[in-house]
Amino acid sequence: MLLDTFGRQAVDLRVSLTDRCNLRCTYCMPEQGLQWLAKPELLTDEEIVRLVTLAVRDLGVREVRFTGGEPLLRPGLVDIVAACAGLEPRPELSLTTNGIGLARTAAALRAAGLDRVNVSLDTLDAETFRILTRRHRHQDVLDGLAAAEAAGLTPVKVNAVLMRGSNDHEAADLLAWCLERGYELRFIEQMPLDAQHGWDRSRMVTAEEILDRLRARFPLTPEPSDGRGAAPAERWLVDGGPARVGVIASVTRPFCRACDRTRLTADGQVRNCLFATGETDLRGALRSGASDAELGELWRRAMWGKKAGAGIDNPDFLQPARPMSAIGG
Ligand code: GTP
Ligand code: 5AD
Ligand code: SF4
Repeated sequence: MLLDTFGRQAVDLRVSLTDRCNLRCTYCMPEQGLQWLAKPELLTDEEIVRLVTLAVRDLGVREVRFTGGEPLLRPGLVDIVAACAGLEPRPELSLTTNGIGLARTAAALRAAGLDRVNVSLDTLDAETFRILTRRHRHQDVLDGLAAAEAAGLTPVKVNAVLMRGSNDHEAADLLAWCLERGYELRFIEQMPLDAQHGWDRSRMVTAEEILDRLRARFPLTPEPSDGRGAAPAERWLVDGGPARVGVIASVTRPFCRACDRTRLTADGQVRNCLFATGETDLRGALRSGASDAELGELWRRAMWGKKAGAGIDNPDFLQPARPMSAIGG
């Protein structure tokens, strides 16, 4: 099991398949992109499957989420999903994507065993999308969402980051649009994980502001069910339900106490927290011939050292060296 000194157990593995992306969202990375990892630095498909297998079979991982960068850019994605779907016990398999290319791949991903997808969509307006992402791909994302729903990658969740003065007036419109289509919308507070280090708390759109904007148009009541558990999203019933909306308030209402996550970067480093300042090199060990038992022991030790939380409010908070796109969202 992957335990830490605060009594948490990591059962949810997030695997980044590439640090590259085909969008350039202004809150994430600069126009010119970043210094991408070189091919030999990336885990191969076989290495990824070996580590996921170890995590599921020996370390108690029950859910595997593929992230990036943009995971659809990974040529071997469908094969990786298929291999992970064959594991015993079968983990839940999901994907977090910007949706570009999903129209082409949704059916194959579903057939390979992917259970569901979360797609990022920050705006309903093609021009705002172009400005926010610096790319003209709004329609591709909409097509990707429709294809995911049609392929049964459900419930389809939509992630939206609101930026002041750009798309923050769209909160209620985004919700209406998602409700019409049966997508579960979640708003995400912007986190200090951008490559440019331009995050500014005073400009961040807070969960409270988002909820105020939504309440102006929709009656919201807290989801009564089993509470938030380890999920980052706090959920509200819209108009009494069953439709819901979520807010992921990583900054103003952190959920670290219930955190059940462990992360593997595209270059084979275990991170015990999104905001961890250190990493554990599984790739080096794996490539120098470590056994599964040795790799498992390294992974357990990495998680044991997990901090209590992100610590964004601590006076000595330092943004991690790697940006979100290189960690895996
Ligand atoms: P579900 O299982 O579908 O609820 O997935 P999720 O919300 O955990 O995953 P997703 O990849 O869609 O992430 C949504 C947002 O939550 C992204 O901005 C992530 O960076 C953020 N997020 C995911 N995991 C963590 C985490 O462990 N800590 C923090 N602070 N944010 C996280
Ligand atoms: N803060 C919050 N969310 C972010 N995302 C990317 N960068 C940040 C950030 N700095 C979002 C993406 C995507 C999800 C995986 O994370 O928009 O929806
Ligand atoms: Fe877990 Fe770290 Fe995210 Fe907190 S910030 S929820 S500890 S990964």
